[in-house]
Amino acid sequence: MITNTELEYKGNLYPNEIVDFKQDTDKIYFTTANGVILQITVLRNSMIRFRYATDHNFEPDFSYALNKNALRGYNELDIRETPTEYIISTVRMNILIDKKTLRTQISDPEGNIICEDELGFHWEENYEYGGNIVKMSKITRTGESYYGMGDKATHSNLKGKRVENWVTDQYAYGKDQDPLYKAIPFYVGLTDNKAYGIFFDNTFKTHFDFAHEKKHVTSFWADGGEMNYYFIYGPTMEKVVRLYTDLTGTPELPPLWALGFQQSKWSYFPESRVKEIAQKFRDLRIPCDGLYLDIDYMDGFRCFTWDKKLFPDPKKMIADLAEDGFKTVVMIDPGIKIDRDYWIYQEAMEKDYFCKRGDGPYMHGKVWPGECNFPDFTNPKVRKWWAELYKEFMADIGVHAVWNDMNEPAVMEVPSKTAPLDTRHDYDGHPSTHRKAHNVYGMQMVRATYNGVKKHVYPKRPFVITRAAYAGTQRYACTWTGDNVATWEHLWLANVQMQRMCISGYSFVGSDIGGFAEQPDGELFARWVQLGIFHPFCRVHSSGDHGDQEPWSFGEEITDIVRKYIELRYQLLPYLYTMFYKYSKEGLPMLRALVMYDQEDPQTHFRTDEFIFGEQILVCPIQEPNSKGRRMYVPRGKWYNYWNGEVIKGGMEKWVVADIDKIPMFIKEGAMIPKYPVQQYVGELKVLELLVDVYFKLGVENSTVYEDAQDGFDYKKGRYSLRNFKLNGKENELIIQQFKDGSFITSYETIKMQLHGLPFTIEAVLIDSEKVSLDAVKLLENNCIEVPKEFTTLQLLGS
Ligand code: GLC
Repeated sequence: MITNTELEYKGNLYPNEIVDFKQDTDKIYFTTANGVILQITVLRNSMIRFRYATDHNFEPDFSYALNKNALRGYNELDIRETPTEYIISTVRMNILIDKKTLRTQISDPEGNIICEDELGFHWEENYEYGGNIVKMSKITRTGESYYGMGDKATHSNLKGKRVENWVTDQYAYGKDQDPLYKAIPFYVGLTDNKAYGIFFDNTFKTHFDFAHEKKHVTSFWADGGEMNYYFIYGPTMEKVVRLYTDLTGTPELPPLWALGFQQSKWSYFPESRVKEIAQKFRDLRIPCDGLYLDIDYMDGFRCFTWDKKLFPDPKKMIADLAEDGFKTVVMIDPGIKIDRDYWIYQEAMEKDYFCKRGDGPYMHGKVWPGECNFPDFTNPKVRKWWAELYKEFMADIGVHAVWNDMNEPAVMEVPSKTAPLDTRHDYDGHPSTHRKAHNVYGMQMVRATYNGVKKHVYPKRPFVITRAAYAGTQRYACTWTGDNVATWEHLWLANVQMQRMCISGYSFVGSDIGGFAEQPDGELFARWVQLGIFHPFCRVHSSGDHGDQEPWSFGEEITDIVRKYIELRYQLLPYLYTMFYKYSKEGLPMLRALVMYDQEDPQTHFRTDEFIFGEQILVCPIQEPNSKGRRMYVPRGKWYNYWNGEVIKGGMEKWVVADIDKIPMFIKEGAMIPKYPVQQYVGELKVLELLVDVYFKLGVENSTVYEDAQDGFDYKKGRYSLRNFKLNGKENELIIQQFKDGSFITSYETIKMQLHGLPFTIEAVLIDSEKVSLDAVKLLENNCIEVPKEFTTLQLLGS
């Protein structure tokens, strides 16, 4: 074995032998002769934090990423010492620390190695800025795959790639272009059917090399700060993602309308045009909930102002639109126009809230309004001030939601596209330069926005959207993948990026449907809508410098297809809302890459196109023009083709027919999929009947339906309705049990069940063990029945 002393070359420094060991409850410290301290914190049975100091010196412990309510606690913690190593054990894993090198090796209780240091921690002193470039290298195991890392526009399996995290305004980005708008330094490794996660909580520019430079090495490093990472053991990917998501937090439930269809463009103006668009949706009976006002509603792009020529009475306009079921979402950017007559500029100047350069001058840069100064959102006072700026917009004018853009921060006409690195930040009382604060700047902006919007739309729920994000930003805002392009390749990218974001703990995400730059043709637009309705955030947006991009812009045939899919989205709202509930409450990703659905099946490890919407609907977009269908991999198990009811067996590739009006879509057998009637907007109709599509299975499958008042906070006081269904199918019998929780009273009295694939003719029906007549359940020929919503056991008997 090579020792660390031999490795001290090229300026890299390595820890040497451990000379001291100390335990302080859940924290264990190892100190080396050359002054490195490794602090190991046991957070949960399957989650350990590793933190390294050099020169005996830790930085103050502070993180923007962490959820303060994250679960903590473990069952047992045991530490042993052998002549060569220390061994820390929880009930789920063992961590070996080599006494000579400080290298670590993690194994499961059966002794299978899960993740192991190659050179382990090492560093390089940073002469120019001070501090260290901190590095970590791990051994890549045979067959190991890597996933996650936010919005990377590349193959879902990152093996062989090198990526970096530095949030960047990347207009019209290309495939494999990196970095983009998000910095989420979290990945999942998978080998031998065991998954683990590593979250490198460091806000400097970080770099990850997944067996790219060296086949057997995966490494990550940062331009500054500490080597500070969380190791999470699965063994399932789902568990890794759930634990990471708990660590960095989930959003509260959004108002249900935010899951409806959203229409945007840069920009809709004047008021009459906005109303025309709204009217057209209603005239053509295409459901829509959100209309977006991009920067042109402002007076000379000054945030928190209105161009009164274009929008003479915004309050009235928003109220009129709301009458018709539309919510108005407005954009707010971080750059504040340098204008002595502009009250926000004046206030920020007086209060000293703008960012300054290293030697004192204000940091300024060009954005839409021309030269701007930038509030330092890493200062809690600035965030409070910013939050209050929303009062007039939300509480007085009635704006429903806010969209924060350009918050990387984007700066025009400079090569770095952002603030200079010597820009200073408060960093919540840990003064730093932009090198450290860049990746969290947008996050702190949207955090302030979220707090302001939440306060001023109360008792309604806040809905906020951000473009830039660091790990944990999902607690505050929904996001989109930035300025994409109207090409088929970008349709592919949108699909991969959405799955990747969901693995990265950020499920409330969507793409600019149809593409932001350039113009799609009708076919591409229709195919993108077919995919987009399965993304948690479903919004059409475009740059507007080409033709129109509304559902009706591509002729009647496309309009009809688009309407059909938006209607399907509205039908599936209870299913989607239940997904969101599970994401919010349990950290379950809303979309599942196939590898997360069935990691045991190696066929899934390199799949990019197919994904599971929630837990039971398999979707695979058509990604080429003139397609009549496509080959796709159907994961193991039995699936019902949504369109024709045909049952197929997975675990292999299939050709699936999908003409221009179809997207390949399958339902897992045993699933019970809840649906609402089509509405033109959320809340238009009182739901008088919950439709549940029941897909027969020989055996057991569980399904859930979560409902509440669709807005407001009563659900937090128990006013929700949670139905857990357990389906158990036998040759001549189908039993559905319902377990109910919550005190919310749903507006409907009956549940209509449409039974698919029933292998017998219904001869008798028992509800809570009592026989009822077939007429009483309104049995129809197509196996549709109606049952009272509060049943606990439903038995269908046949022969
Ligand atoms: C940025 C945004 C885009 C927006 C435009 C104008 O390019 O990403 O969505 O339309 O700015 O505000």
